[in-house]
Amino acid sequence: MKILPEISRTLSEYLLIPGLTTEECTPDNVDLGAPLVRHRVGEEAPVRIATPLVSAVMQAVSSPALAAALARAGGLSFIHQNQQIEDQAADVLAVKHEHPADGAHHRASVDGEMRLRVGAGINSRDFKDRIPALLEAGADVLCLDSSDGYSVHQARTLEFARENHGDDAFVGAGNVVDGRAFRYLADAGAAFVKVGIGGGAICTTRAQKGIGRGQASALLAVVEERDAYARETGVYVPLCCDGGLLNDSHMAVALAMGADFIMLGRYFARLDESPSRKLQIDGQWYKEYWGEGSRRAQNAARYGQRGRMVFEEGVDGYVPYAGGLHDNVERTRAKLISTMISCGSTTLRDFHRDAVLVPVSAESFKQTGAEIEVRRPAIDAGE
Ligand code: IMP
Repeated sequence: MKILPEISRTLSEYLLIPGLTTEECTPDNVDLGAPLVRHRVGEEAPVRIATPLVSAVMQAVSSPALAAALARAGGLSFIHQNQQIEDQAADVLAVKHEHPADGAHHRASVDGEMRLRVGAGINSRDFKDRIPALLEAGADVLCLDSSDGYSVHQARTLEFARENHGDDAFVGAGNVVDGRAFRYLADAGAAFVKVGIGGGAICTTRAQKGIGRGQASALLAVVEERDAYARETGVYVPLCCDGGLLNDSHMAVALAMGADFIMLGRYFARLDESPSRKLQIDGQWYKEYWGEGSRRAQNAARYGQRGRMVFEEGVDGYVPYAGGLHDNVERTRAKLISTMISCGSTTLRDFHRDAVLVPVSAESFKQTGAEIEVRRPAIDAGE
């Protein structure tokens, strides 16, 4: 047994200190582009996204409609793998057949043939059938979908992809929360590594199994190893920060800490394009949102790949409805750009290098919100 000396911290325990804003720091000059897959240091990644946001490998999130809308906005979706191979391949194909949108924005994620890019989840059980079917359907990037990726099963899946599909298959792996696990998956050939265990909005992994780590601590540990790995091997393996990012400021902190892109479930589930039902409760609009480890997801899968479910690792509930994807992603982009301008960075690589962060005490954390909004009703009532 060993106890790590540092306390596990989450993203909301950090704030950014502004850096010098120069003339170059204008909204038009800020580039949120990020590498999606491994590449040699100093070279361009073969797959990049202009908006560093990807949608979670979840039934309640990544439908073909959401995937097309997100690719148009410069991000990427991962079609969920908790379904039959042919159904998932059909979803991938549906996105590849979407028109990139007449007048598509220059930042849309498109392949060499101007088709929208789309990713897809895989698992370490039926990968020998699933990987070729998804690649055949046109999936641009694949991602091993597991709450704990530090396993020989993931390494074997990566090895299979490399040996059978070579440069055609980009397979991300995870999730991990420390440097050892990062290095293991990077050595096994992961195209990117996903960081985060137990932080998801619908996640009960920490409570059920006692496994996990605060997202900031996990990210910082893995970023350190990623950078050491890049120095040693000349290979840069991008990091995806996954789970528990509740608002745009968490995304800014995660990117500042060294994440290349961010995976979001709850954020996208709230939007028109997500596949779940929209319903009204007490006059408020909500959308359903449930975890992949919830009984609902497993029942819907009608696909006995995980065997009988003994306990749940996720919940089934509702999130406040938030409108269309385009507007929400544009607003998030604007906030991230504004943060980077305050910090004096025009690219994510500069932001990784130059950001200055500070942990916040519990007392100063209480002051993070706008208190005037809280007081207003009392003032109104007095008038
Ligand atoms: P969110 O953005 O906070 O909603 O978190 C989404 C992430 O939670 C996903 O990308 C997964 O890593 C994770 N996740 C999805 N379903 C479950 C579940 O049922 N239990 C635990 N974690 C889950």
